[in-house]
Amino acid sequence: MSHFKAPPIAPSEITPERVWLARRRWMQQLGVGAVALGTGGLSLRAMAQSAPAASGLFAAKPNPVYQIMEKPTSEKDITSYNNFYEFGTGKSDPSNYAGAMKTSPWKVIVEGEVAKPRTFDIDDLRKLAPMEERVYRLRCVEAWSMVIPWEGYSLSTLLKQVEPTSRAKYIEFVTAVQPGNMPGLADRIIDWPYVEGLRIDEAMNPLTMLVFGLYGKTLPNQDGAPMRVAVPWKYGFKSGKSIVKIRLTEKQPVTSWPKIAPTEYAFYANVNPKVPHPRWSQATERRIGSGFFAPRVDTLMYNGYAEQVAALYQGMDLRKNF
Ligand code: MTE
Repeated sequence: MSHFKAPPIAPSEITPERVWLARRRWMQQLGVGAVALGTGGLSLRAMAQSAPAASGLFAAKPNPVYQIMEKPTSEKDITSYNNFYEFGTGKSDPSNYAGAMKTSPWKVIVEGEVAKPRTFDIDDLRKLAPMEERVYRLRCVEAWSMVIPWEGYSLSTLLKQVEPTSRAKYIEFVTAVQPGNMPGLADRIIDWPYVEGLRIDEAMNPLTMLVFGLYGKTLPNQDGAPMRVAVPWKYGFKSGKSIVKIRLTEKQPVTSWPKIAPTEYAFYANVNPKVPHPRWSQATERRIGSGFFAPRVDTLMYNGYAEQVAALYQGMDLRKNF
């Protein structure tokens, strides 16, 4: 699989940033100060491996297949400009209120059309496969975007464990509802819980990721702790946060946004610059953190992941299945 196509940026601009970010992350994880900066990468790695890696996330290795030649959005923006309606509809509501969400203990039920239904403890899910770091674009249906270094592994790894039956055509993700800890639940825009779903072949595509961390750290609550999905070729709303149940089904699940506004949001929600939202264009996007006057970026078909996923939609009318 080749690297994803991205707007051209000189490698000289990128490499130092990536190196710097990677080093900064190592340092933060190690909890070491500037004094240690002189140590070479190798010894840092050695220190890392001997350090008590609390969550195991620390060992996440960048997967070279899933890197993009774009500067990642700052950790501050990724963790303070969010959509997580359980905590309110404002962009800063999740970072202000999600601290109250209880993320331990946490179980994830996997049921439905599977030979081996099972309830997983979140700690077992963290250990199910080696954590990888993948840098994905996230394109929100509201026409803003970010570039996020996630830690996790392909959802297919989990699905193989429970052995989907031949009737498993779809997958449904049900996310947490914690009355008392989620002020946004009072707002009935969404018929809680927030539900999302995918077709089974979309779920099995290696790009579809179970996420446990970002920037080498445990996932902050506002970003969907302790576990969310990331489906990078679809609008951000397809990537449910704080998942408590995964159900495999024969019928297409009824998901939150198409239920609220079926003329505006449909099940597939593939990023497509040629199909406008009824109220705004999807042709360009605002990259969060690039500055107010920065030019908008052209939105790419399937958010830049066409090579990996276009075949899934061969023969489908993308205007009807938007
Ligand atoms: N998951 C839940 N449970 N509740 C939500 O409101 N919002 C979605 C998605 N997952 C949402 C959710 C939307 S609209 C987007 S754009 C992304 O999360 C935003 O992810 P981010 O805040 O990590 O950027």
